[in-house]
Amino acid sequence: MNSGLLTPPAARAGGTATRPPEASLTWTDPVTGRQGFLVIDRLVRGLASGGLRMREGCRHEEVRELAAAMSVKEALHYDPTGRYLPMGGAKGGIDCDPLSSEARGVLSRFLAFIRPYLENNWATGDDLGTTTELIDEVLGELGVDGCIAPVVRTLADPQAARKRFSDAFAVEVDGIGLAELVGGCGVAEAVLTVLDRDGVSRTSATAVVQGFGAMGGSTARFLHEAGIRVVGISDVHGTVANPRGLAVEDMLRHRRAYGAVDRSRLGPDDVLLDRDDCLSLAADVLVPAATSYTVHENNQDRVTARYIVEAANLPVTAGAEERLRARGCVVVPDVVANSGTNAWWWWVLYGDVAPDAASSLSKVRGALRDLVTETLKLAEDAVCTPRQAARYLADARRDVLLSRTGA
Ligand SMILES: NC(=O)c1ccc[n+]([C@@H]2O[C@H](COP(=O)([O-])OP(=O)(O)OC[C@H]3O[C@@H](n4cnc5c(N)ncnc54)[C@H](O)[C@@H]3O)[C@@H](O)[C@H]2O)c1
Repeated sequence: MNSGLLTPPAARAGGTATRPPEASLTWTDPVTGRQGFLVIDRLVRGLASGGLRMREGCRHEEVRELAAAMSVKEALHYDPTGRYLPMGGAKGGIDCDPLSSEARGVLSRFLAFIRPYLENNWATGDDLGTTTELIDEVLGELGVDGCIAPVVRTLADPQAARKRFSDAFAVEVDGIGLAELVGGCGVAEAVLTVLDRDGVSRTSATAVVQGFGAMGGSTARFLHEAGIRVVGISDVHGTVANPRGLAVEDMLRHRRAYGAVDRSRLGPDDVLLDRDDCLSLAADVLVPAATSYTVHENNQDRVTARYIVEAANLPVTAGAEERLRARGCVVVPDVVANSGTNAWWWWVLYGDVAPDAASSLSKVRGALRDLVTETLKLAEDAVCTPRQAARYLADARRDVLLSRTGA
């Protein structure tokens, strides 16, 4: 779309990757001592988008990286012919086990503290350990009009936009909500795009998915549906493997809370392995769809896959990525591969897509195929990583957006 404007990424050193965030705060809960973080990487038209995560051990640096990634995801989906105008990126994080008895109180006090940003600048939503429903419920108690309030205020017909949004979130396909499916649909399309590019037939290709929650489960469904053999799936408790292919839909039907595989319902040939064995299973594609930093310098040599397509945020460390690349493994970065969910929210809200499954999945597929193709081509032409290419594309698209709309 905008590739005519490009010069090599090296010319843009000091772009997205090194820019300091516009705002960054650390909050300490006066009741429990737990910490919360809000990083606004950048505002565009006064707005930034990005979820709120809650996990024991969440750190400021992690939230800062995630916020920077959100700026890239937003800008990458700028389409001058669409209604959606990308925002900047932000992220929230709370260092607390979401299942602990103190979690709700901590969440409520954190949101109360950062309320001005929630009302004016930061459109948020679910991430690890939170749900959009929970955030909306707590915001309702605080008198804030939901987690997308700052964006809704900028729209010509806020009522129609909210109706489209709630209609879309009510759609389910075979037991899984559309809001959950769009992310995995995009990741699976990213996988299919790299396989098609390299002439790997879908019927011969194999994949392993690390994580079986919202992202992992929906990615596994779409890979399976496309004819790819899913030979391994892991959750926090371990890995389930079958070189002949797992019965993905059965596993989804019996999936338990928090993305746990029901091990009492597996097939007779399925094998139980240790959790991290999913990394070394023989497969063409590895899809990390669990937590951040799961592939690092000390375990990257276990990975045998030729392609890693990142469904999770920050699953591969920079050091691991360098080594993987040196031995020919292509890493399709999170900012591209898992960007379908964020973009879909705004396509629905702005009215770029109808709030139904057919048009939503078709738009996600088209956008991800184009984006992966452009990213890999630029990486090849400019001899850089796909992650560097994606950052560059994002900077170029944001420049165009800002020149048309102003900051
Ligand atoms: N849900 C979305 O729409 C969305 C969109 C973009 C990115 N992401 C990112 O995708 C990742 C997963 O998010 P989710 O919403 O699917 O979470 P989730 O809580 O629904 O599922 C997480 C899954 O990972 C498993 N898991 C946890 N630790 C593991 C480990 N060490 N090894 C293997 N499995 C492990 C859990 O058992 C569960 O199956 C996160 O990094 C998140 O930020 C999610």
